Amino acid sequence: MTGTEGTGGEIWALRERVVIRGLKHRELDEADRIMRLAFGTYLKAPNPIEVFGDADWVHTRHKADPSAAFCAELDGEVVGSNFATRWGSFGFFGPLTVRPDLWDGGIASRLMEPIMQLFEQWGVRHAGLFTFPESPKHVGLYQKFGFWPQGLNPVLARELVAPGTRPAIETFSTARVAGSGDRVLAQCRQVASTIYDGLDLTREILVLDEQGLGETVLIASADGLEGFAVCHCGAGSEAGSGACFVKFGAVLPGQGAERRFERLLDACEALAARHSLARVVAGMNTERHAAYQALLARGYRAMLNGLTMLRPNEPAYNRPDIYAIDDLR
Ligand SMILES: CC(C)(COP(=O)(O)OP(=O)(O)OC[C@H]1O[C@@H](n2cnc3c(N)ncnc32)[C@H](O)[C@@H]1OP(=O)(O)O)[C@@H](O)C(=O)NCCC(=O)NCCS
Repeated sequence: MTGTEGTGGEIWALRERVVIRGLKHRELDEADRIMRLAFGTYLKAPNPIEVFGDADWVHTRHKADPSAAFCAELDGEVVGSNFATRWGSFGFFGPLTVRPDLWDGGIASRLMEPIMQLFEQWGVRHAGLFTFPESPKHVGLYQKFGFWPQGLNPVLARELVAPGTRPAIETFSTARVAGSGDRVLAQCRQVASTIYDGLDLTREILVLDEQGLGETVLIASADGLEGFAVCHCGAGSEAGSGACFVKFGAVLPGQGAERRFERLLDACEALAARHSLARVVAGMNTERHAAYQALLARGYRAMLNGLTMLRPNEPAYNRPDIYAIDDLR
């Protein structure tokens, strides 16, 4: 680990030598390798490169929005990357990674620059991230950019007792095929906006559908859509083999929200069963106390504890009466 290196007798700080620019398609495999190596090294995995198995973030996020994918280049080599995602009036970034032999040289801080510019350009009201609560370095790094801790964010999982059964569920892809995709997208925007003004998962739903990464499940009543969940399924998605990963889910707040949330979880678990996936994974900020308790009561157990940090230092949709699932990893 070194923050400075000798070059032709001069000592140049890495943070000045590094070039920050858009990540190109042909560089994705190297960016992906570094992402796995960096996390595996931090987590002290026996074989760091294997840390995430067959789950994917780098290729899928680049494909989703190449203009929001950045890399750090040093002496002609990719040495780190960072990705921004926009959910309407809310944005987040990650995975942010730097090649381990170059840590503590200011490269991650440089990789934050285009991300902060994008958030400004997009006009998001809140921007966030998921990080490791036990790491003073991680928390300190993000605080430099105005992100502040908002409470513990466990990632919980439930092993399904009988994967393989296939109860009926409504999905976005079925609606699209039936010609009502646009109407469903508008309804999803309405539901999301009830928990946070301007929250818009349209892009996330479309990317999932177009890339074949999973399904968005829908729950409705005679009055219309009451909730939806964007679920990654299995290998090559953000879930990885054997898992159904709820990247975002929300139901209408207010009276009956608890029941609606249970129905949404029923739908996510039914989707997992349909795809023969043994596990449902869901991230939950503990400030959403009622929803957190509902997951625990249903048998979900924390796999890891993360920390959500937000800019500015306000709760956004992390409030006790909000029934939402999200994962900013
Ligand atoms: C996290 C990671 C991206 C950081 O990359 P990096 O290039 O080493 O980070 P930088 O050197 O730009 O910045 C680290 C900052 O943390 C600060 N820092 C370190 N320890 C600190 C502490 N105890 N308290 C406060 N700040 C601290 C440093 O001072 C530095 O800021 P400075 O440059 O203003 O001095 C890199 O370590 C990595 O890839 N880790 C594995 C993957 C990972 O955890 N990614 C992030 C997931 S949220």
